[in-house]
Amino acid sequence: MKKKFIGANWKMNLLQAELEVLLLELSAISVKKEVLEFVIFPSQIYLSDCIKQSNLTFGAQDIHSENNGAFTGAVSAEQVKSAGAKFVLIGHSERRTIFQESNELIKAKVDAALNTSIELVFCCGESLDIRDKGTEKEWVSNQLKEGILHLSAEKIGTCIIAYEPVWAIGTGKVANTQQIEEMHTFIRETLIKKYGPDIALAVRIIYGGSCTPDNAKEIFTLNNVDGGLIGGASLNFESMSTLLNSF
Ligand code: PGA
Repeated sequence: MKKKFIGANWKMNLLQAELEVLLLELSAISVKKEVLEFVIFPSQIYLSDCIKQSNLTFGAQDIHSENNGAFTGAVSAEQVKSAGAKFVLIGHSERRTIFQESNELIKAKVDAALNTSIELVFCCGESLDIRDKGTEKEWVSNQLKEGILHLSAEKIGTCIIAYEPVWAIGTGKVANTQQIEEMHTFIRETLIKKYGPDIALAVRIIYGGSCTPDNAKEIFTLNNVDGGLIGGASLNFESMSTLLNSF
């Protein structure tokens, strides 16, 4: 059976001492590993320490598209892999908007991660003005086409796709269940058209955008929703522990 996936995206939050406390608390939760994969994405600076201190699974919030070289401030897929990270987030909306990452760059990062055997969470989602125009499916379809649909069936089968409407991230506004289910089904159908049902069903499609303990259960039981990517609520032990028990 396909495992559900919960990612805790800590973004640029937590100082060392705060992180250690939260990590200790989260490490004590018993996650049903047969049904749920739980991955924490801490700031890159703490990635190595987290991996050494805890037996949880960790991922990087971003990578450079090259493996090494003169790219001050950046980290490569090979570096995060050698630190022991298993996953990477690629194309998060904050990277796309604040750091102006294009679909072309995101595609190169997808390849860098897979060439290094790091599993990836490919993020996509529309802004509010796209949603208001009613062109959100075209938008997401284009992000998929230009960022990830070049992959072979074998490679796409290992990927996770996170649908994160930009207007719902960190805003407290959650997409309603119909909006979530419609977009997830659309993503699944897009994958089926390109790769056939067996491969398409192996890809986990998760939702992100103001997920909290109050709405998680409802969201996670929708059709084609295989888990969530949690930002704000993942910084609080009680919220995270309730979220992890929503399955
Ligand atoms: P949020 O962030 O839960 O704070 O909305 C989600 C994300 O950015 O992945």
